[in-house]
Parts: sequence; structure tokens; C-alpha cells
Amino acid sequence: TLYPVILSGGSGTRLWPLSRAALPKQYQPLVSDKTMLQETVLRTAGIAGVGAPLLVCANEHRFLAADQLSRAGVTPLDIILEPQGKNTAPAVTVAAQYLLSRDPDAVMLVMPADHVVGNLRAFEQAVAVAFEAARNGALALFGIQPDTPETGYGYIRKGKSARAADGCFLVDRFVEKPVREEARRMLDAGDYLWNSGMFMFRADAFLAEIRQFRPDIAQACEAALAAAARDLDFCRLDAQAFAQCPSDSIDYAVMERTTKAVVVPADLGWSDVGSWQSLAQAGQADGSGNVVRGDVHTVDVSGSMIRSESRLVAAVGVQDLVIVETRDAVLVAHKNESQRIKQVVDDLKSRG
Ligand code: GDD
Ligand code: MG
Repeated sequence: TLYPVILSGGSGTRLWPLSRAALPKQYQPLVSDKTMLQETVLRTAGIAGVGAPLLVCANEHRFLAADQLSRAGVTPLDIILEPQGKNTAPAVTVAAQYLLSRDPDAVMLVMPADHVVGNLRAFEQAVAVAFEAARNGALALFGIQPDTPETGYGYIRKGKSARAADGCFLVDRFVEKPVREEARRMLDAGDYLWNSGMFMFRADAFLAEIRQFRPDIAQACEAALAAAARDLDFCRLDAQAFAQCPSDSIDYAVMERTTKAVVVPADLGWSDVGSWQSLAQAGQADGSGNVVRGDVHTVDVSGSMIRSESRLVAAVGVQDLVIVETRDAVLVAHKNESQRIKQVVDDLKSRG
């Protein structure tokens, strides 16, 4: 069976002040009236033969996550709770171990809980292609056509057509988060794709790789799962054992090193909504190129993203701004600087 595995443990700091430690972006309705998490689980409903989703999230958000799933009418296979964030490699590893102990043929469709996929048909087609490859033991990636030298993504060099499935290519090279010059070179080379951050593989195929490349992570996860406690609807990983687990992303731990990766290029209408700028691009712009939400009044404003949560926001004669009003904080930034908002969060943290 194919199991959606939803990674919901990130904190989305570049969407400050909307995304906070207490309420990260995946638990908020950013592009529709459903939260990003709800959009993500519902997206998998149309996949043929799909099983119930397995959620991996932070302990502190367990009720939020469970409540949002139930409101979306989704009964998860389980909700695995992490006592602390250890990045995506451990999250995927515990999910793989969990599934393998129940289904020796488990295939995982790993999906971040905070991405937009606008083209559902393309998504379902790409998943079908990746499923064929995954069944044959490959680690399948979904490749997005790049258009900027973005440094926050993984880059995939598309190789020869893979025999595993039509529409699927061998991965020649995987480069996670390159520096700007290298990103520029790969963009210009024309044969690179962005890694979407969604993955598909057999649980046993992934575990073989993580055991080879990061046996320390594999062992710590196994111990944390073996000593996990059942708590209502949750599977709580053992805090002591999980604390011993090194932190790393699946991209560095496995994807940069494996020889089993294949890529399915797909026009998914994808955005990781990582910044206000990308959220503006994913939203419905009006005639002046403004994306507006809440109680907002504009006069002679263009190219801007303006959100109000609690008060009336008015803007006059400005361009290309991000203005976000919340109950206790207001952000004003230039749209092109929206990657640097993380800096505000870091500064505030050190201020205490
Ligand atoms: N459960 C859990 N635990 N989930 C986590 C954790 C964790 O400790 N850390 C991150 N996640 C979730 C995030 O919520 C997000 O949905 C997803 O895993 C990916 O983590 P990010 O932190 O957003 O990764 P990234 O954006 O830096 O990079 C990844 O995504 C890019 C595309 O958006 C990589 O896979 C890149 O290669 C890729 O291009
Ligand atoms: Mg991300």
C-alpha cells in the first residue's frame, strides 16, 4: 500500500509575524480557507489505492494537528510525535520504521505539510509514475522547472531516462542548498531541476540507504520508536532516545549520496510558500498586482502583498511592499527582501 507521510514539524520563520512558534504556517489557512496541513492531506485523497496518512509532527502541536485532520474529515493511520525537531532525516526514518513494522511492502509518499500544489491532475500523474519507480526500489523525487538561482532548494541534474518507469529519469547529481554562484551555473546549464521536497520510496529501500549513510540516525530512531508510548491517538517517541538522535535533513543525509534516486519532472503549480514573496505569487492578484487579505484599503498601490488580521490597514502610493498586520506585530518590508525576514526572528530571539 501507498501511505502519505506528512512532515509537519517546521516553523516557517520567514513568514513572520504570521508564522510563529506557537502556530507555524502549516496550521494556518494561507492560500485557501483550509489550512496548509488540511490542503496537503486532502490532496492525496484522489490517488488510486492510497492508505490513511501518517503524520509526523512536534509534540507541542499535537492537538492542533489532530483537530485539523478531524475537521477535514481525515482519520490518520497515526500521529507520531517528536519531543524535539531533529530535521527531516529522523522524521522520515521513524515513519519508515513505523510503516515497515506493519506492512513489509509499504511505499511512502513523503509530503511537506506546508506546500502549495496548484495542479492536482499533474500531481496525481507524477505520483503514478513515481509509484512505479518506487515499487522497483528507486528513491523517487519530483522535479520542478527552476526559473531563478534560488539558494534555498536542492538541485537535481536529470540524467538518462530511467528504465523503472516512463517519464522518469536517473539522477546524475543532487546538490542541496548551493551557494549563489553555483545555483546560477546550474540554472544556466539547463539540465537541472529543483527538488520539490516531496519523495516517494519503499520504506525498506529508504531504510537501507539511511542505515548505510547515517547508521547513527537509523539506530537512534529505532530506539526512540521501540520505546515509544501510546498516548490517546498519538505515538509519542521516547524523549531520551530521540534526544540522542543527530539532526540532519533527508537531502544531506540521503539524497546527495544515494545512487538509487530517480526524478519525475512535473509541472505541479508548486510553491513551498517559503517567503512572503512566494505566497504573493501563489495568491490571486488583483488588477494592480496586489494580493490582499483581510480589512485592507489601498489607494494607488501596486505589486504588494497586504494582510490584515485584526485592524484596518490602509496603504497609499506605494509599490512592491509586504505589509502584514497581526494582533501584536506589524511587518513592513520590500518584496524582494522577504528572504531576510528570518533575520528579524533571529534578532528577536537573541533579544529574549
Ligand atoms: N516532522 C518534522 N520534523 N517535520 C519537519 C522537521 C522536523 O524536525 N523539520 C522540517 N520539517 C518539515 C517542514 O515543516 C517542511 O514541511 C518540510 O519538513 C521540509 O523542511 P524545510 O525546513 O522546509 O526544508 P527546506 O525548505 O529547507 O528544504 C527542503 O525543501 C525544498 C523545497 O521546498 C529540501 O528538500 C530542498 O531540497 C527542497 O528544494
Ligand atoms: Mg521549506
